[in-house]
Amino acid sequence: MDSGEENETMYYSDEVIEEVRLRSDIVSVVSGYVKLQRRGSNYFGLCPFHNEKSPSFSVSPGKQMYYCFGCGAGGGVFNFIMEYENYTFPEAVRFLADRAGISLPEEEYSEEARRERDKRSSVLELNKLAAKFYYFQLRAPQGQRGMEYLKNRELSDETMKHFGLGYAGPDGSMLYRYLKKQGYSDALLKDSGLMQVNERQGMYDKFWNRVIFPIMDVNNKVIGFGGRVMGDGKPKYLNSPETVVFDKSRNLYGLNFARTSKEKNLLVCEGYMDVISMHQAGFTNAVASLGTALTSRHASILKRYTDEVILTYDSDEAGIKAALRAIPLLKEAGVSARVLHMDPYKDPDEFIKALGTDAFQERIARAENSFLFELSVMEKSYDMKDPDGKTRFFQAAAAKIAGLELEIERENYIEAVAERYQTSYEGMRKMVLNVLMQGAPVRTAPRSLERERRSEKDDGLLKSQRLLLTWLVEYPELYPTVSSYVSPEDFTDPLYREVASMLFEQLAKKERNPARIVDHFMDPVQQRTVAQIFNTEIPVTTREEEEKAVADTIRRVMTGAVEQKNAALDPGDLQGLQALIAAKKRLEGLAHLHISLPERKE
Ligand code: UTP
Ligand code: MN
Repeated sequence: MDSGEENETMYYSDEVIEEVRLRSDIVSVVSGYVKLQRRGSNYFGLCPFHNEKSPSFSVSPGKQMYYCFGCGAGGGVFNFIMEYENYTFPEAVRFLADRAGISLPEEEYSEEARRERDKRSSVLELNKLAAKFYYFQLRAPQGQRGMEYLKNRELSDETMKHFGLGYAGPDGSMLYRYLKKQGYSDALLKDSGLMQVNERQGMYDKFWNRVIFPIMDVNNKVIGFGGRVMGDGKPKYLNSPETVVFDKSRNLYGLNFARTSKEKNLLVCEGYMDVISMHQAGFTNAVASLGTALTSRHASILKRYTDEVILTYDSDEAGIKAALRAIPLLKEAGVSARVLHMDPYKDPDEFIKALGTDAFQERIARAENSFLFELSVMEKSYDMKDPDGKTRFFQAAAAKIAGLELEIERENYIEAVAERYQTSYEGMRKMVLNVLMQGAPVRTAPRSLERERRSEKDDGLLKSQRLLLTWLVEYPELYPTVSSYVSPEDFTDPLYREVASMLFEQLAKKERNPARIVDHFMDPVQQRTVAQIFNTEIPVTTREEEEKAVADTIRRVMTGAVEQKNAALDPGDLQGLQALIAAKKRLEGLAHLHISLPERKE
């Protein structure tokens, strides 16, 4: 798989993107994922982006857009693939181009980069062959021992198949001989990490006498292997070394499946077996780092898929340490964390076997807020029975609270701590204020505040503006009339203004391509808003009502524009004044506006 860095630097021209969009009909693409039924001029189905029982997910062949009236997900065909497959934009372009049989212009590679690329694909090819070999071994008579071991661990055939589990027998050079017969060179075999070299014996298999876990990247490519002894031998698990395709710090086991799980969070645990037994129990949002601690790389990869991680580490000291290390890394990447308590069991595998799925589900629901988890770990190093010890703990807690970015956050934790540790809210608050006054660490720009401010102030005016833009897309015939009264500058929000001017430009050229307008915006939040703008629900039934509603909406949009121009007018601004007078005139002309709509094509 291409690395993230590569993706960011690859661009396709607008023409290429347009070609791919044209040849990727949204109804046909979405049908590959969602069962759609025609209703009027649109198609409806169950939204793949949130759980629902009745269909509120719509796909419009006319607009080439999808929109969910339930959760607000929406966009064009690229957005759909990006959201569903968790692809970046270039990845979605490549995916759809491939589907449509369009060959994209070759990216330019240097000689060295090309060799590296060739080596990567050869190693991937070898890995695939090896995975098939191990898979076959497990299911053949000679794999009985491995099969017994896995059955003993209560894995179903289906689970073994899903994860592609395999077996390497006691003969330490079976895979080597097999791959040599296929004509692969020793040099490549060495690069693949599948072999080990020893001066006396030469080259032999790295994995033998173990059950095998192929490790896949998010695109289901086998990038490496893990092998477990079938008993108590050491080391318990053996992993592929780092190779051209295997980088432990940026891959998570199970993410290829977890990324399409509908759950809003991801469960991060310690190892292969935990992931597998969680998936088998229906927790398909579980992933694990590969025999290493979670890195900040992992954290930013997780951020691509979720805003919340539940740490399901072992309940021993090592697990607690791992959680304490992971929490700040996740926070740094913008992922919030909760900690699942497994006690009295050691890990998810044992827990689920002992107490079952429902009990585990309940533990997920009750997973502890990471800040309070950190506090409860801290608490253990104070003697809470001693008044001084207790005071020192509260001081430490206050210092920790004072380090939080937002006042509201600090307030909430003062309250939570006071309640949990049975102390006075006021006392805690004063302690925190004291720390803050002593010049606590200066906070960097309040990111989350900005997010709060962005929350849309959806006064009726914006709604009218959305309605008007939706109507224009549904009935391009309205454009000459509408544009004789309304111009893009009359839209009061900068984003709406930009969308309006792009749409007006298209309609003036007798074009209608709202999906292209969505793709123009890079920011997912903006893309969603644009999808919403073009999918506003039109609250009328008869044609007459609709005609009246269009006229009313035009009036409302113009009234809003005049009011805003009025309020923003600088007395010395002659041009502004003229624009205002012109807008007022147009508004007056609207008093008796009548709109006639074409027949709806149902
Ligand atoms: P554990 O020792 O907790 O194993 O190591 P486990 O996951 O419970 O495995 P089972 O249930 O005994 O089969 C946690 C994880 O650390 C890595 C593996 O990813 C393992 O799943 N590990 C552990 C290694 O990479 N090598 C080792 O020798 C041990
Ligand atoms: Mn275990």
